[in-house]
Amino acid sequence: MADSWITNALKFRLLDIIFFLLVSDLVFGIIHYSIREEMERGAFVANVAEDLGLNIWRLSARNFRLATADKRQCLEVNLETGILFANERIDREQLCEQMPACVLSFEIFVEEPLEMYRGEVEILDINDNSPSFPESVILLQMAETMALDSRFPLESAVDPDVGSNAVTVYNISPNEHFGLKVETAEDGIEIVELLLEKPLDHERQSSFQLMLTATDGGNPPRSGTARILITVLDSNDNAPAFDNKVHKVSLIENSPRGTLVVSVHATDADEGSNAEVNYSFNNRVSQKIQELFSLDPRTGEIRVQGIIDYEEDDNYSFDVQAVDNGSPAIAGHSKILIKVIDVNDNAPEILLKSVARMVPEDAAPGTVTALINVIDRDSGRNGRVNCEIPKNVPFKLQTTSRGRYKVITSDMLDRETIPLYTIAILARDSGSPPLSTNKTIQISVSDINDNAPRFARPMDTVYVLENNALGASIFTVTAFDPDLDQNSYVTYSFIDNLIQDLPLSNYLNLNSMNGTIYALRSFDNERVKNFQVQVQARDAGVPPLSSSATLDVIILDQNDNAPVIVSPSAQSGSAQVEVVPQSAGQGYLVTKIIATDADSGLNARLLYQVLEATDPSLFIVGHNSGKIRTARGILEQDSTSQSLVILVKDNGQPSLSSTVTIHFSILGNVTEIFSENRNLVTNPEYVSDINLYLIVILGSTSFIFLIIIILLIGIKCKQDKHSPEDYNSPSCCYGLDDANNTFNPRHTLKETLNYTGAGEIVHIPETHHYSVCLSPESAKSDFLFLKPYPPPMSQDEC
Ligand SMILES: *[C@@H]1O[C@H](CO)[C@@H](O)[C@H](O)[C@H]1NC(C)=O
Ligand SMILES: *[C@@H]1O[C@H](CO)[C@@H](O)[C@H](O)[C@H]1NC(C)=O
Ligand SMILES: *[C@@H]1O[C@H](CO)[C@@H](O)[C@H](O)[C@H]1NC(C)=O
Ligand SMILES: *[C@@H]1O[C@H](CO)[C@@H](O)[C@H](O)[C@H]1NC(C)=O
Repeated sequence: MADSWITNALKFRLLDIIFFLLVSDLVFGIIHYSIREEMERGAFVANVAEDLGLNIWRLSARNFRLATADKRQCLEVNLETGILFANERIDREQLCEQMPACVLSFEIFVEEPLEMYRGEVEILDINDNSPSFPESVILLQMAETMALDSRFPLESAVDPDVGSNAVTVYNISPNEHFGLKVETAEDGIEIVELLLEKPLDHERQSSFQLMLTATDGGNPPRSGTARILITVLDSNDNAPAFDNKVHKVSLIENSPRGTLVVSVHATDADEGSNAEVNYSFNNRVSQKIQELFSLDPRTGEIRVQGIIDYEEDDNYSFDVQAVDNGSPAIAGHSKILIKVIDVNDNAPEILLKSVARMVPEDAAPGTVTALINVIDRDSGRNGRVNCEIPKNVPFKLQTTSRGRYKVITSDMLDRETIPLYTIAILARDSGSPPLSTNKTIQISVSDINDNAPRFARPMDTVYVLENNALGASIFTVTAFDPDLDQNSYVTYSFIDNLIQDLPLSNYLNLNSMNGTIYALRSFDNERVKNFQVQVQARDAGVPPLSSSATLDVIILDQNDNAPVIVSPSAQSGSAQVEVVPQSAGQGYLVTKIIATDADSGLNARLLYQVLEATDPSLFIVGHNSGKIRTARGILEQDSTSQSLVILVKDNGQPSLSSTVTIHFSILGNVTEIFSENRNLVTNPEYVSDINLYLIVILGSTSFIFLIIIILLIGIKCKQDKHSPEDYNSPSCCYGLDDANNTFNPRHTLKETLNYTGAGEIVHIPETHHYSVCLSPESAKSDFLFLKPYPPPMSQDEC
């Protein structure tokens, strides 16, 4: 610079330089001035002429001039007045840059004599420049994880002024995090650094804008600023955080696949991939839970993917995590508590612990027949089970403890009524809707010999036709025993008793196995008409039970006896003579044929008819009564000796008959008749041996009877004197059916006749009634006889 300045001076002021070289020894001293920079153009610097002691008036004459090395001619001198002034505005920084001292040298030349004066003007600095930063905006990026006291170099500010006007102090705008550190290096260069005084957090503040101020020491001070823009870079320093630390949710069991259980959500305070979270099960979560539930890594939705069974697990608890995509990744955790809500999805179960297949029928009420357990895997109401069995069986349930039951008998059992019970046990829970299960148990009632054999007919009548074949089966008794097996095996036997002084076994035989009764004899109705047999049926139980039946064996009559003529006796041949008075008119009862038939019923019903007659027109015989009457009055020309052959036949099929021949003698004298008749009755020769007894008995009985009747009639007639017409009534036949009569002759008669004599039952058929006829007409011949006749005929016969 100085060189060029000198060169310029040489070039333009060559003469002056030569001159200067020549007169250099003429220099008288140096004058020194100082001025402040930035003086206006033309500003006064110094009065050089005066300061040099030069006469102003002669200046131009002496050729006063100024020579400077300054090419810009900052200084000029007024040649007239010798005043040095600033030719232009002087900027010290332009002239001297950062030189600490800025001096402009000049020479003053005068001639005549030639003199040269040297002078210098020092340009004093004023604070006319502000510090400035090379960049007005400083961009800085720093990681949020930057350590404390980290330093970030800043470019220092520049101030062209010198000295105290140059930079002295840096400041930064107030903030929490940053400070400044200014150091001066050995070469005097200031090093300005930004100092991290407080940790950064991208998540709190991701950028800072600071103002850096540099202030110089001028008076007044000047300053320059630069903006510092700090970007805090995110680092993965935040774990994802779940909205809830714990998620408590309820889940209905059996929820279908895909049911949303809960949606978890986590946020990460970081940025970008550091904030991208993915959800997953914590690695401690069991395989089973991971099979039951799915977790969407992106959305965080937990859904059902298996079968949720309350009965298996009533709650689930596991951890999920949210992992961000930072490097390294950080995870956040949350706990999931799932409470499973029971639904009634399990029917009760009935477990048959023990079932007695057989119960004896005599088991007392309360006998345990089965033990059952009832369980329901549900809980609460859904698991509360009610158990019942039908009301219509003699069993009931008894609870022993919760869910345990005994099936006991509630009543007496009877195998014969119901041998097998099928009991449906119904278990129903209290859920809604309720679920139920039923199970049937079969309980057989085992047999006890509690039933005696029972005869189908405990009283029965057996009719056996007399003259039966020997060994013929006549009847079969049947008894039934409702018990089982050997308790029901029935055998039969007779309860032995005597029939006609002989043991029953002489008459009948009994097949003990099937109850068939065989006749061991041929029965005769005329000897034995009926007898009773008692049959016993006994089962094979232990002890055996038995019952009996009574059989009335009735020997049915067969027409095996012909009628026997009792009177007139045929035994003395046909010499019987009946006397008929000449005077007898029509309807005169000549005699009566008495015949008996040992048979009974129709077999003993006798009919009479005339078989032969001397004069068929004279006599008729009563068809039923056997009375022989005259059919007309007896005429003179009728033969005095007549005879009739009478046929007496029974009503059997075929009928049997006997005949008797009666001779009649027609006489004029009637008085003999009585004696004849009396002879007929009292003569024992005319009566058979058998009938003699009968007649004696009948006679004596009738006699007593007659006396009683006469006595009664006597009493009655005394009482009834007011009505004698009743007494004379021709139909004074005392009906034995008279209910008002306190004395019943028929009854007495029957009782008497049933008297057993000579080991033989005298049977009088019930259809034959006896009456005593007091008809005056029949008094003569019938008085002593008892006539058998059927009741409807009594009126006719009397
Ligand atoms: C992780 O989550 C992001 C979004 O948060 C998603 O784009 C990405 O697919 C997920 N990664 C996996 C493996 O699912
Ligand atoms: C959760 O289930 C376990 C067995 O899996 C059981 O021990 C626990 O008591 C249950 N907790 C609740 C609150 O039901
Ligand atoms: C018992 O169960 C059967 C099927 O197992 C069903 O048909 C019947 O109706 C049930 N009886 C009752 C009384 O519930
Ligand atoms: C009873 O048994 C006998 C002998 O076995 C037989 O002849 C008879 O016919 C049986 N009676 C009945 C009613 O079966």
